[in-house]
Amino acid sequence: MSQQLLAAATWQRIQRFSCDKPTPCLIFDLPTLREKYAELEGAFPFADIYYAVKANPDADIIRCLDALGANFDIASIYELQKLRGLNIDSARISYGNTIKKATDIAFAYEQGVRLFASDCESDIRKLAKFAPGSRVCVRVLTEGSETADWPLSRKFGCQRDMAIELILLARELGLEPYGISFHVGSQQRDISSWDAAIAKVHFIFDQLREAGIALKMVNMGGGMPANYKQRSQDLQTYGRAIARFLEEDFGDSPPQVIIEPGRSLVAEAGVLVSEVVQVSYKSHDSLDRWVYLDVGLFGGLIEALGEAIQYPVLWELDSDGEDEVILAGPTCDSMDILYEDHRYQLPVNLQEGDRLYWLSTGAYTTSYSSVEFNGIPPLRSYILDAP
Ligand SMILES: Cc1ncc(COP(=O)(O)O)c(C=O)c1O
Repeated sequence: MSQQLLAAATWQRIQRFSCDKPTPCLIFDLPTLREKYAELEGAFPFADIYYAVKANPDADIIRCLDALGANFDIASIYELQKLRGLNIDSARISYGNTIKKATDIAFAYEQGVRLFASDCESDIRKLAKFAPGSRVCVRVLTEGSETADWPLSRKFGCQRDMAIELILLARELGLEPYGISFHVGSQQRDISSWDAAIAKVHFIFDQLREAGIALKMVNMGGGMPANYKQRSQDLQTYGRAIARFLEEDFGDSPPQVIIEPGRSLVAEAGVLVSEVVQVSYKSHDSLDRWVYLDVGLFGGLIEALGEAIQYPVLWELDSDGEDEVILAGPTCDSMDILYEDHRYQLPVNLQEGDRLYWLSTGAYTTSYSSVEFNGIPPLRSYILDAP
């Protein structure tokens, strides 16, 4: 089968490298990551990049992005410890998770982190007590959940009026009210989601200026897409549109902008290599061909939950034609079905032991894979660099 998402040389390098490796495993290609970083930098020249470590926390990926000059967005003190262990300066770290224990905040502060996101009064009070004087971005709710393949703006963020109150409270408690953050949902297909979000941010900036607070930063989170089975608009188009939205609202005095890309940076650099464990039918006259793989929802493909993310798949065998399948994982959990409504077309002669290559799996796979469900170890990954 032909591949379109990976350069031919990259695909060959990955095939060559993985041929004697036990499956399942993720092969992550650093040259592709460097290309994606350059693409994002080119598309968003008006923004500082803070890599969302949760997307793939591999130390080699962090080192590579560090060398490229990236900053980092963290979700926990464990990610912070990892970054500090790799000598990343805390001045280049933003603590983006709005859900934090007091002890997490105290640890981050002690490590030198001074930029935090928040979305409720109790967190602002904890920040004032355990990270005094720190910069705070208040996260607002945004629209766009229906058009994001992996929605995020319901659990996090607060309404506009509450965001204004929280910024005022932050000032009162001695924190530095620094900006407004949002995340329009991961793999956001509708670029106009950023338009509405930026307009909301602008309104808050205006209101607070009247209260004597000059906010400085817009943290636009992630949401920029990767290419999956369904292609997405390119990053240049996203960057151009978002720049226009910013200009329409803020004119020639733009705020400092940061973006926190996860998926759009690392997804396309990863190929998950899997093997067919079994092919079966539930009755002699059934048309449903069940293909069970050695990777499933719990082994790294959790974003197939609800069939939300649909990865492109490749194979090597000479196909005698293709027909639809139901794809499922290997564990003893009946929830571990990857794709049933959306029918992948796979070779009719696909057999046990054949390999399937899942493209665009560099994001949210290794970091999500379970520790020992059914005794299966976490998804192993190998990092490849150019020879
Ligand atoms: C605060 C924050 N920033 C950035 C990201 C990365 O988003 P994406 O992978 O869509 O780029 C996430 C994803 O969960 C997030 O929660």
